[in-house]
Amino acid sequence: MTKGSGWMWIPLRTTEGAGADTSRNDVCNRRLDATMEKISQSVRKKDHSPKVSGRSIYVDDYSGDGVLTGKMLRSSLAKARILRVNVPELPPGYVYVDAKDVPGDNNVNIVLDDCPVFARETVEYIGEPIAMIVGPDPLEVERLVASCRIEYEELSPELDIRTAKTAFFTYEYGKGDVEKAFKEADKVYEEEFSTGYQEQAYMEPQGMMAEPEAGGKMFVHGSLQCAYYVHGAVMRALGCKPDGVHIKQDVTGGGFGGKEDFPSILGCQVAVAAKRANAPVRCVFGRREDMEFTSKRHPSLTRYRVAVKYGKVTAMDIDVIFNSGAYTTLSPVVLQRGLICASGVYNIPNLHVYGRAMKTNTAPTGAYRGFGAPQTYFAVETMMNHIAYDLGAEPLEFKRGQMVRQGDSTSTSGKYHFPVPLPAMIDEVDGMCGYRKKRSLYAKEQKGRYRRGIGLSLWFHGAGFTGSGERDHIKAIVKLRKNADDTVEILAANGEIGQGVRTTFPKIVAHELNIPLEDVYYEQPDTARVPDSGPTVASRSLMIVGELLRRAAIKLRTVWESGEVQEVTEHYKEPDFMIPFYLDKFQGDAYPTYAWAVCAVELELDTLSGFSKVLGAYGSYDVGTPIDYDIVLGQMEGGFLQGLGYSSIEKMEYDGKGRIRNNSFSDYLIPTTMDVPLMQCMLHVEKYPDGPYGAKGAGELPLVGVPGAYLEAMEQALGHGTRLHHIPFSAEDAMEELMKEGR
Ligand code: MOS
Repeated sequence: MTKGSGWMWIPLRTTEGAGADTSRNDVCNRRLDATMEKISQSVRKKDHSPKVSGRSIYVDDYSGDGVLTGKMLRSSLAKARILRVNVPELPPGYVYVDAKDVPGDNNVNIVLDDCPVFARETVEYIGEPIAMIVGPDPLEVERLVASCRIEYEELSPELDIRTAKTAFFTYEYGKGDVEKAFKEADKVYEEEFSTGYQEQAYMEPQGMMAEPEAGGKMFVHGSLQCAYYVHGAVMRALGCKPDGVHIKQDVTGGGFGGKEDFPSILGCQVAVAAKRANAPVRCVFGRREDMEFTSKRHPSLTRYRVAVKYGKVTAMDIDVIFNSGAYTTLSPVVLQRGLICASGVYNIPNLHVYGRAMKTNTAPTGAYRGFGAPQTYFAVETMMNHIAYDLGAEPLEFKRGQMVRQGDSTSTSGKYHFPVPLPAMIDEVDGMCGYRKKRSLYAKEQKGRYRRGIGLSLWFHGAGFTGSGERDHIKAIVKLRKNADDTVEILAANGEIGQGVRTTFPKIVAHELNIPLEDVYYEQPDTARVPDSGPTVASRSLMIVGELLRRAAIKLRTVWESGEVQEVTEHYKEPDFMIPFYLDKFQGDAYPTYAWAVCAVELELDTLSGFSKVLGAYGSYDVGTPIDYDIVLGQMEGGFLQGLGYSSIEKMEYDGKGRIRNNSFSDYLIPTTMDVPLMQCMLHVEKYPDGPYGAKGAGELPLVGVPGAYLEAMEQALGHGTRLHHIPFSAEDAMEELMKEGR
């Protein structure tokens, strides 16, 4: 199939979960016209053997000889002035490091500059690092940290986003005439939705290491997504020139967004400590420390006011609040994506969206797969369902009539330039699980102990960095270096975090050069060796950087001289078709294209215990051409499961003092293998002409829309016209609903 020649089917893959009802697998092996392209055929991941054999070296695995261990002295109050820190006498070789030791600027370079390397005069959340003690014996370091006495003047913390006073960021945008639409409406609906934290729960906790090098240079490496983000931050904290520091990504045990900004903070802290102690310093967090004090998904509160006329939505007035925590970190960009998605996949002619990222005295929230979108998609999908119930319509049919189509304007008055395959994808999911049939079957009154429900959700994920970031800030550069032995090294800064770039990047280059995959390699990026191809975020790596590599490979092919050392460079250029995005107006194409998804969740609720079991999870995904079928399917399945966890069991809350209560895997539950349901995922391919071989962003998509489907299924199982408004929706929540009269 040639570029841009429309959609194709890729076969369905079924994962039989531990709890799956395998008798219904008849639909799974159906093959749908699968002429998979060569580039999509799966290969063994390049990092497969070292990882499964345990040979990979993570930051904690480097020899500890001569390396000092760093432990954080943290605030025990959510807001206070630090009067004095009484530090015990330190044995020789042990060093206390705090804000006074920061040679450059005590600000971590992220988006704005408010997050300090070490606390200033005040602390703003429980766990904020005040100082680090480093030394040769980790147990002694721990003892010394525990014997520090901090004298505070306690101040009253801001903990409730409803009453919080500081809005870090405020955005407002819209189109049409909202007031008029509300005035002329047949009906107006108003509801409020809330979502909780979600912890990334990567297998490897945060960890960074800094090593002073000859000539006063600093080498910082560790578990991270964005080597150049850390580079910018450490450079600023040390007050040095760009070549005074270099950053390398070590093998990284998962990120999911959690290692997008946080390693910049920890990187600065270990670098400052290593500078002060003039010795290598390593700081690796324990699980509790990681869960309590590092970034997680923003809790949200959203209010929808919706006007309906002649059975269709004519206007939405949406108010979004995200809990940003104590510092701004990534909140502006997370909020932007959340706001852009607030009207869902629907064509809403009159729209007003207002959003704020509020400061609270809690750990700064940050990036997590989906980056603001899961919060608003959950709200808009559930809102649409509730309106449909009220109108006596079937939610899917109600939504189907109002979906955007190719050529329509986006929420931010950009344009859906490419096909919107949702109608076909809905039918695919219906075909997989008999959605419509089950939906009407379960709608009948259920009386037994076990009651079933099924729900379906529709969404897109804007592919690539939000807004004008790619064009104005990132300006990605890649290089290919051909060695004298005709092997080719990829020089780019994007990190392997389990999403497969260490395999898919070489696949693209090998394919274009028509050389064996073994002859193309991609090392762990080190900013001393690789150009800035931008951060490993926003499902941009494969689509943006992969395409640059494809073009670089074409360039190299045309000048290829066997036996010679050669190098080619490629720069990002915004596609011509784009309507430029301007943040001040909040208008234009926020993304060049979109990945699309439809998922259905079927569950069974035990009315005796409140527990429910997912019977089936079905999804159709359009991420363009899969550059590796198994990798993409793995992403879809993993994201689906994270979405189910987010919807149901992943509950994290702080108490009245601002302390996170769920700081271990016994208090914060994530899905395990035992929770993997029968899962069927398929790919629906709409090629994107500016992505490599038609590929679009894939990584974040599968998590984003799951809560809407989960909650719709839960409402149906509960019956009695139940309307739900929050996630996670736990067994306790179900029990509470069941105990209401008449169940
Ligand atoms: Mo990501 S959630 O854009 O690291």
